[in-house]
Amino acid sequence: MDPKLPPMCGIVGYVGPQSALEVVMAGLKRLEYRGYDSAGVAVLADGGLAAAKKAGKLLNLEKELDGKPLPTGTTGIGHTRWATHGGPTDSNAHPHIDNAGRVAVVHNGIIENFALLRFELEERGHELASETDTEVVAHLLAEEFSSCADLAEAMRLVCRRLEGAFTLVAVHADEPDVVVGARRNSPLVVGVGEGEAFLASDVAAFIAHTRSAIELGQDQVVELRRDGVTVTGFDGRPADVRSYHVDWDASAAEKGGYDYFMLKEIAEQPKAVADTLLGRIDGSGSMTLDEVRIPAGVLREIDKVVIVACGTAFHAGMIAKYAIEHWTRLPCEVELASEFRYRDPILDAQTLVIAISQSGETMDTLMALRHAREQGSKVLAICNTNGSTIPRESDAVLYTHAGPEVAVASTKAFLTQLVACYLVALYLGQVRGTKWGDEIRAVIRDLSSISGAVEQVLGTMEPVRELARTLASKNTVLFLGRHVGYPVALEGALKLKELAYMHAEGFAAGELKHGPIALIEEDLPVVVVVPSPRGRSVLHDKIVSNIQEIRARGARTIVIAEEGDEAVVPYADHLIRVPVTPTLLQPLVATVPLQVFACELATARGNEVDQPRNLAKSVTVE
Ligand code: AGP
Repeated sequence: MDPKLPPMCGIVGYVGPQSALEVVMAGLKRLEYRGYDSAGVAVLADGGLAAAKKAGKLLNLEKELDGKPLPTGTTGIGHTRWATHGGPTDSNAHPHIDNAGRVAVVHNGIIENFALLRFELEERGHELASETDTEVVAHLLAEEFSSCADLAEAMRLVCRRLEGAFTLVAVHADEPDVVVGARRNSPLVVGVGEGEAFLASDVAAFIAHTRSAIELGQDQVVELRRDGVTVTGFDGRPADVRSYHVDWDASAAEKGGYDYFMLKEIAEQPKAVADTLLGRIDGSGSMTLDEVRIPAGVLREIDKVVIVACGTAFHAGMIAKYAIEHWTRLPCEVELASEFRYRDPILDAQTLVIAISQSGETMDTLMALRHAREQGSKVLAICNTNGSTIPRESDAVLYTHAGPEVAVASTKAFLTQLVACYLVALYLGQVRGTKWGDEIRAVIRDLSSISGAVEQVLGTMEPVRELARTLASKNTVLFLGRHVGYPVALEGALKLKELAYMHAEGFAAGELKHGPIALIEEDLPVVVVVPSPRGRSVLHDKIVSNIQEIRARGARTIVIAEEGDEAVVPYADHLIRVPVTPTLLQPLVATVPLQVFACELATARGNEVDQPRNLAKSVTVE
């Protein structure tokens, strides 16, 4: 059985005047960044259904189609699969088709009760050809359709029997101008064009055709026809849906001249930071977070903040804690979403839960916020993806405006998460009266200068790239930090893990003497994030001592310190300067060299930077 890899399948559906095969294949190419290991398409034509599917990359499927062209049709679906149940083989690739060859279905997610469904189908004489959970849906749809002769109704009936997380898109040869989709937990968006309609797991698949999108909610079925879209619940009742305009520009899904999306996204950080501030500060310099639809009176009653997130977003939450507690005097806990609900947390109506997620689809974080809401807590999402599940299931959302982040390794989304967290902390301070207006305006002024500071850092990264290349053969790099520099050290280590596939570990520098210093050996690279000497200067003196301790034991010290900090110079084998920044905001500039360092080292190792092995951009299973 395959290890439970995070399925990050790409789904595309189309109905309209164009060649369905061309639209679907182009859409699947736009979704390649999600990572996959097989692909397939199905087209309705000449009263029948034709399909092709191959293990491996889209190129394999294209070769198959060159050799055995599909008939031209204007209704079709396609899929890039990330293997979960059943290995990446031709037969396990989607679409899956019923025995009569009339129904095709593609799927993202995991159907948890598929084994019983499969057993019952085989008992009724169905022959299933693959090892997948998805195939049972094709046979169930065929059975229901034979009774109701309506694919949307058949989908509703089938979905009510499925357990787990699933996004399904299907076609039936008896309804040649219809595509039907359904979603529970896994993402699915609708694109509405002129006389045509699209379904996709991500708007990137259809923004070349239309920017009018509809976000689908939980347990909803959508029927696409050329002249319109109908959305119901699984129970068949009409559903309210929200249309929105996709504000990405088409180039956003391209690399813009960079070798990797990650490099482009690192370079976009100054703009992303500035964009995330836009519209949130009024003329007087006060906060205007009107999209945070939690009444001020409710926020004044809050007596605890809990942040839930995963990975890089969790590190953003760790940094947010310092700002929230310092500016609002509210206790703030930061929890790994995957651990949160299993520790039986103490939550109530006076707890504000902040769910941080770039994709808005991370299942661990989604389940954590659902648990919090069940306990009566208010949930505020900080998210980068409009229309995604996490903001939709929260009481309020503060969107980051990083633009689409395609590379698996999160960079600009992280910096904008920090900006959003600072804004929320300031807003809480403003609403609760723990920060005076002039104090808030002072921090806003500092935040407004960060975009330029990040730009300045980006202009000085060549020595960091050179250093990274010299370390390509190393097996381990350690990262140390104190105060807000500690989560930065963790983030730097995570970047190196996920990109260079090497052992990297972040520590609170104060912990060195409690064990980790035993790791120090000759020429071991250790990155140290040094806090500002002007802020908590006692911490600065302590970390300079830490640098001396590790250097005395042979470490190669790579020191990130602000301009003018001369105390570190005697102990830094490599010194990376960042602009002078207020203590709490330093992560916004100190993280950037670590992103560049990890990306360059991974490149030097010949790794696939945008789609690192074993990783997915959004982990939509627990
Ligand atoms: C970070 O570089 C990784 N891509 C990963 O840790 C990511 O931050 C995590 O999976 C959370 O994703 P989200 O922000 O989309 O919820």
